[in-house]
Amino acid sequence: MAHSSEISRFDEAEWAMFASRLSYLSGDFADPDTYRRLAEVLGRMPSANRLFYLATAPSAAPAIIRGLAEAGLNREERGWARIVIEKPFGRDLDSAQALNATVAESFAEDQVYRIDHYLGKETVQNILFFRFGNALFEPVWNRNHVDYVEITAAEPLSVGHRAGYYAESGALRDMVANHLMQLLALTAMEAPVAFDADAVRDKKIEVWRSIRPMTPEEVAARTVRAHYTAGTVGGEIVPGWQEEPGVPPDTRTETYAALDLRIDNWRWAGVPFYLRTGKRLARQVTEIAVYFRHPPLSLFPREDALKSNVIVLRIQPDEGISLAFGAKQPGAERRAVPVSMDFCYRAAFGDNPPSAYAVLLLDAMRGDATLFTRRDGVEAQWRLITPILEAWAVDDSRLSEYPAGSNGPVEADALLARNGHHWRAIDENRGKCHA
Ligand code: BG6
Repeated sequence: MAHSSEISRFDEAEWAMFASRLSYLSGDFADPDTYRRLAEVLGRMPSANRLFYLATAPSAAPAIIRGLAEAGLNREERGWARIVIEKPFGRDLDSAQALNATVAESFAEDQVYRIDHYLGKETVQNILFFRFGNALFEPVWNRNHVDYVEITAAEPLSVGHRAGYYAESGALRDMVANHLMQLLALTAMEAPVAFDADAVRDKKIEVWRSIRPMTPEEVAARTVRAHYTAGTVGGEIVPGWQEEPGVPPDTRTETYAALDLRIDNWRWAGVPFYLRTGKRLARQVTEIAVYFRHPPLSLFPREDALKSNVIVLRIQPDEGISLAFGAKQPGAERRAVPVSMDFCYRAAFGDNPPSAYAVLLLDAMRGDATLFTRRDGVEAQWRLITPILEAWAVDDSRLSEYPAGSNGPVEADALLARNGHHWRAIDENRGKCHA
């Protein structure tokens, strides 16, 4: 489903060896004979372990899951049988619950791997290592020191050949309901008792459960939805969303969403978590910025007041972490200027991170579900997103616009400005990791 921006090494000889072991069987999803033939083919294989990976239209999933079970392919008599299910996992709470129930009729939960490819990104996994592998950051990672948190996933591209899917989905379902929810949980969760599948997933679910689903009034005040109009991205003139090929011209689907979420627990009460994502924005950037409070006293003249300390976890591109702080500018003047300390993934480890899918499919084969979404997790995510979708469906007038290639709609700036906060500019090339 996802196209990944990560670059992986391609080795002709390795591929040839792998490709020689591939075989292909075609059949109709709805025809029980397809699964009988599949069972026969698999029965002739030397290994009895089976990993079924469903990257299909969501509507096809129930028939496939039932078909596999009816052919006995869910049974673990000689080896293991696991099923990997791609997003979208449902399109709201009801449909996600129905799909979970269908899956549960045929597969035990520990056989099910709901994939969210963001969790396979090295820099996403590094959020937990950064937080819980160091003693320095965790003591200030709370409402006493953090002013607000901003999570951005901006893309310069549009939807390519996926217009049909995306016009039915929109930015909230496509990115926020899964990838951004995961980034939020990893940023805000408590330390798990162990780094294993259930301990980590329990703590993430606590975060989602601590966010109260929004009322329609809160949706009106604390969310922004928008679509892009014609503009220029990377020097190229591009059409607006409604003019894109394959998109119904009267579509009201959003290509941008921004939310102001509050996590009502002891660690985070009162700290806004701002989430935003969009297509056709100025450039690609996925990052989490944690803004710290200002010092209690300002010893320097007002105009020298430092911008607050910010820790930025750069998920992609220019993978790394930076800490912005103030330093004295050399010279007689007592002037503080912002500077930064930077960790660059490539400089430290000398390579690009491995592809997220390689990481996740290997984990599924190894039987490690830590980086997959559990049944209650997917439902907890939809419990937050569904009221927003419903309120947007009723009050359809609130669809803002932004020119392609920009930083997003002005309404999203206003969402933060009323709290005295601001987004980091998407169009500034801030990464310090260009090798
Ligand atoms: C997918 C979405 O899950 O993630 C796409 O369906 C989006 O719309 C993609 O472009 C982004 O993934 P990445 O890895 O390029 O950030």
